Amino acid sequence: MSDTRANRRFRSQEWFDNPNNPGMTALYVERYQNQGYTREELQGEKPIIGIAQTGSDIAPCNKIHVFLMDRIKAGIRAAGGIPMEFPVHPIQETGKRPTAALDRNLTYLGLVEVLHGYPIDGVVLTTGCDKTTPALLMGAATADLPAIALNGGPMLDGWWKGKRVGSGTIIWESRRLLAEGKIDYDEFMSRVCASAPSLGHCNTMGTASTMNALAEALGMTLTGQSAIPAPFRERMEAAYQTGQRIVEMVYADLKPSDILTREAFENAIVTNSAIGGSTNAPPHLVAVARHAGVELNTRDWQSVGFDVPLLLNMQPAGEYLGESFYRAGGVPAVMAELARAGRIHEGCMTVSGRSMGDNLAGIEVLDREVIRSYDRPMRENAGFLVLSGNLFDTALMKTSVISPEFRARFLEQPGHEGIYEARAVVFEGPEDYHDRINDAALEIDEETILFIRNVGCIGYPGSAEVVNMQPPDAVLRKGVTHLPTVGDGRQSGTSESPSILNASPEAVVGGGLAYLKTGDRVRLDLNACTMDALVDEAEWQSRRDAWQPPEIRNQTPWQEIYRTHVGQLGEGGCLELATAYRGVSRDLPRDNH
Ligand code: FES
Ligand code: MG
Repeated sequence: MSDTRANRRFRSQEWFDNPNNPGMTALYVERYQNQGYTREELQGEKPIIGIAQTGSDIAPCNKIHVFLMDRIKAGIRAAGGIPMEFPVHPIQETGKRPTAALDRNLTYLGLVEVLHGYPIDGVVLTTGCDKTTPALLMGAATADLPAIALNGGPMLDGWWKGKRVGSGTIIWESRRLLAEGKIDYDEFMSRVCASAPSLGHCNTMGTASTMNALAEALGMTLTGQSAIPAPFRERMEAAYQTGQRIVEMVYADLKPSDILTREAFENAIVTNSAIGGSTNAPPHLVAVARHAGVELNTRDWQSVGFDVPLLLNMQPAGEYLGESFYRAGGVPAVMAELARAGRIHEGCMTVSGRSMGDNLAGIEVLDREVIRSYDRPMRENAGFLVLSGNLFDTALMKTSVISPEFRARFLEQPGHEGIYEARAVVFEGPEDYHDRINDAALEIDEETILFIRNVGCIGYPGSAEVVNMQPPDAVLRKGVTHLPTVGDGRQSGTSESPSILNASPEAVVGGGLAYLKTGDRVRLDLNACTMDALVDEAEWQSRRDAWQPPEIRNQTPWQEIYRTHVGQLGEGGCLELATAYRGVSRDLPRDNH
């Protein structure tokens, strides 16, 4: 990395200033010039900074970026760069069917093609809604040209009748109240809509706030920007500073490969435990790592992150929402607390051009009610457990959301703490679940374990957030709000359910969940980190031999391409062939005429 502005030739000059091919140069210049860029701008030896725009009317969680664009561009120009905004394929978590997760890899592919095929020297990644953040980080890792992330920030806190109501989390709670007959449909709708009072992404520590916190923990954002609420003045300032900084990064040739090291991913895992982050973080972070060429797997989440305490008191693991998190100091305050406990690799390079330790120096927690100290945390051992057994090779359990009632009921039977044995009821997907959950013939009681299968990457397709299944109404009315649930899909990061999820391999490719039957006994052992169907080996083998994969029907060409190339959630759910490509921005494409 050098920081000299003299004698620097940018990759965009291969398009706009190539004396070896004047015809092509003219063609490239005239068609960018016609929208107002001057020849001097295009040929003036200034870097072209792409801005990957994820916001639009159809992607409201990221819509704020439409309004931040002026500030990003102003920052780029002030630092001597030329901004060029371009759209990426939208990923709206609450809009896209069958699931936004299907499109993460499509957005990734599209971004890689833009960064490879256009005259771009550095890129601002506008992140926010759940999958936009990993998709853009994955694309930046594959392209490996200077890149900096800027999220749109969470919505303002939601309030309903004097109580904080948070994105997603309020839905799961209100659905139970509706099922128990405690509220009517009108109140249900009003409560849920109150949780979204402004532009921005989810204001709980769901997947959006999680992934943006992890982008910051990885070193891919300016310090302190990820928690700034979307409508705040500081968010506009961060947009301006991000624009300025990316130009300096291009001059310094500071690339994702300088930042995304194994140690940086470990910082992200540790931070995730401390903030009570989403169960979607492991597949997304593993995917970013694989595209960056860094060894990281699902088991690392337990070995690196399990024994980290929960420091942040934010829904769904705690009480507060995004505004309080920001005012308490945001991600740097949490990371500084972790660094003081020796849990952060402080030497990691970041987009600031300084180390993580330098970025965190002198940062204090501003509100101890919201961000606890390492010695007096919300709870100890708040990371994920990674389970295995005859039902799957890996599945995750988020321990920071296990409530005292759930722990007492299922995990603290005197004499066998952490061990739970019960009867399984199996659903073939969310439609089957909705059809039959209240069917008395299933004999679901307050002891039952609920399973759902065929909802993974290939099965759904894309892997659906459906594992946090609500108990039947009759069980809810007895005051039991959660049963243990298990599945090969995911659950919303805003859910407070301690489900066992992301089971890999999934049932439709012959993972162990495929052979489970309603009525089987299942044993969960959190001490040994195992979950097994208690079915004898001969019987299990005969079910395996008799198994026929369910029929899969693609509705679009992308679904077929995705299903053909996608791996399992345990390996990040990547397009497997794509993980072999690295540094593609340096492999210049041929001229186009
Ligand atoms: Fe978009 Fe939560 S649904 S951020
Ligand atoms: Mg979701």
